[in-house]
Amino acid sequence: MASTEEIIGRRDVNDVEQILMISNTDINASIHAVKDNAEAIFTWDYEKGARPALNKLYEKAKNSQWNGETDLDWSINVDQEAVVVANQAANNRGQGLDVSGTIFEKWGEKEWTELGIQSQNWTLSQFMHGEQGALLCTAKIVETVPWIDAKYYASTQVMDEARHVEVFAKYLNEKLSGHYPVNAHLKMLLDDIVMDSRWDMTYLGMQIMVEGLALAAFGFMHQMTTEPLLKQLLRYVMSDEARHVAFGVLTLKEYYQELTQAEIRERQEFAFEAAVRMRDRFLQQEVWDRMGVPVKEAVTVVMQDPAQQLFQQMLFAKIVPNCKKLGLLDAGDAWLRTKFTELGVIDFEHMPDTEEEYETFALAEGEVAAAR
Ligand SMILES: [Fe+2]
Ligand SMILES: [Fe+2]
Repeated sequence: MASTEEIIGRRDVNDVEQILMISNTDINASIHAVKDNAEAIFTWDYEKGARPALNKLYEKAKNSQWNGETDLDWSINVDQEAVVVANQAANNRGQGLDVSGTIFEKWGEKEWTELGIQSQNWTLSQFMHGEQGALLCTAKIVETVPWIDAKYYASTQVMDEARHVEVFAKYLNEKLSGHYPVNAHLKMLLDDIVMDSRWDMTYLGMQIMVEGLALAAFGFMHQMTTEPLLKQLLRYVMSDEARHVAFGVLTLKEYYQELTQAEIRERQEFAFEAAVRMRDRFLQQEVWDRMGVPVKEAVTVVMQDPAQQLFQQMLFAKIVPNCKKLGLLDAGDAWLRTKFTELGVIDFEHMPDTEEEYETFALAEGEVAAAR
């Protein structure tokens, strides 16, 4: 069993100094190579539908493809500054945050608006990078998973993820005002997932943790944004993401039955590591850097913001119930339950898990055509 320090590289999960020590140093490189240690698996068992729930998901996916180029109204003009101001007004920016005596004390409308713009550029950039991570991971799953129904389904997800990378990149290029390189914490996590030799770890890292968080974050943003193009884009992406998370839950639920207690413990530790990396990334250290604000001070203030704390917890609304469904929360000595309690996210355990939820997120018949 590994200690917290061995798993995440620091003893205290909230140690800001240690969190900020990790930063992306090769921001000018145009490619990044990661060793993929897994074997590509052929199966000679072609019986389609041997796993009915995966087969159903696959059939559903075939009929749920949309076209990022033609099904979204890219002619919509986005005035980013106006959108940021409208979003901040609609969502009561900064309420409950006391900035007296901090670096934000002298900030006026101009600075807060600029922060909103940079945060949006950063957030959408990280989503784009995360989507590419999903693209690579699902291509890897096509190779590594031994079940034919899972290979079929994963292949549809590869197409979904290509579309997601495409639409986030296009939105960033055409409607926003700048890109950010991949956040170091996110990059570390994506590297770990791609490098792991065990096929089910790709699912746990990507489908359960990264995509579980994305589904919650997209839902939040979909609700908050006043910009119609982004709203529509997120609506479509979420309908796919809900299937992707279901794919993870369905597959791992079966596979974990075969694992020993020691193997399950390794999965618990990986889930915890992923949770911490994703929490760290939302401190958006690169934004403060670009705005010329002392990073540590800014992060420390933001960590005290009740709205930010609520947001960070909400990101785990899908992850915790799905880990529970998989038996990861309470296996062994309930180690992961203890860790999620320390992170302040255990209360989500009673929320609905995502095994069936994709049905509610699904695009209605004719919905895409009507929006066209
Ligand atoms: Fe995606
Ligand atoms: Fe996805």
